Amino acid sequence: MKAFMGIVLILLAGLGASVWIGFHTKLSEGKLPYDDDQKGISEQVVIKFSHVVAENTPKGLAAQRFAQRVNEKSAGKIKIEVIPNGGLYSDQEELEALQRGDVQMIAPATTKLSSFSSKWQVLDLPYMMPTRDSIIEALNGEIGETLLGSLEERNMKGLALWTNGFKQITTNDGPIVQPSDLKGQRLRIMPSPVLERQFELVGAKAIGLDFNETYRLLESRELNGEENTISNIYSKKFFDVQSDLTISNHGFLGYAVIMNEDFWTKLTNDQQTIISEALDETTRWNQTQSFEMNDEQLSLIEDNSSIDIHYLTNEEKREWAKRWQPLYREFEEEIGKELLSKMIKLRNNNKDF
Ligand code: SIN
Repeated sequence: MKAFMGIVLILLAGLGASVWIGFHTKLSEGKLPYDDDQKGISEQVVIKFSHVVAENTPKGLAAQRFAQRVNEKSAGKIKIEVIPNGGLYSDQEELEALQRGDVQMIAPATTKLSSFSSKWQVLDLPYMMPTRDSIIEALNGEIGETLLGSLEERNMKGLALWTNGFKQITTNDGPIVQPSDLKGQRLRIMPSPVLERQFELVGAKAIGLDFNETYRLLESRELNGEENTISNIYSKKFFDVQSDLTISNHGFLGYAVIMNEDFWTKLTNDQQTIISEALDETTRWNQTQSFEMNDEQLSLIEDNSSIDIHYLTNEEKREWAKRWQPLYREFEEEIGKELLSKMIKLRNNNKDF
């Protein structure tokens, strides 16, 4: 029995020694032993998603929701790291960073894509999509598909279109009710030939500048005003540094959700499916939530700020639309006749004033 116990002890000592030696060999080779959780993390795909707006906006919330759904669907194997407020890149920088592959995902305002394909300008034409339904129909149908497809030549994979809502006008020199009320004013716009001409046609000077520069320029009165959605006016507190807000619903602001094409093609089929499904769910949610959010934040501005709010009547809207009508012809060639006529048909089926 003693002899047997001796053999067992020797075997156990040998086993212990080999485990110890193995562990230290791995350490010296720089390979730490790991459990399954550790293995999962080392195989995690991390996707940086950069955008320029606040978190409590339609885009900010959609980005977070998308990140959460991807995390759930992939059991943590795909991590979407959302960086809001231009924390990584400003508007122009994020487009360049995406093409270089320094960031994998962005969701710029569609207006900012017109330098890549002039087709995108169709969404900037004033009063082109007069109702919420017309926006959804344009984005979810053939028009949206054509626009997303136009990004392929630029090493960008267009994955989805999100909405924010209708643009309104704010100024420090209001009230702005008639087109002539904007005469001589200097306004911030997103860089866009259509938007520049839009304000030129009513006698104002519009300058394309970064979104996150806007508050400072309005506060210092270097600019008189700007156009934006209620959600951006609310979340960036433009209402604090402007005296008048005109509810004109004259333009559309929405987003193209884009991934670096090389990065996208390197993902496995399963990874692509997870991302596409999470995006489809998020897009459906965004397309109702964004309008509700703009409505709620308009009430908050109304209740909590001293800005004067002017709601354009249908007759006043018709006056603005008449002044801007020449733009449709001016940009027909750049946008393309076919796309423009599809859009005009959609507009005519959805007229509301
Ligand atoms: C955004 O909503 O992403 C920014 C819009 C702007 O530049 O005005």
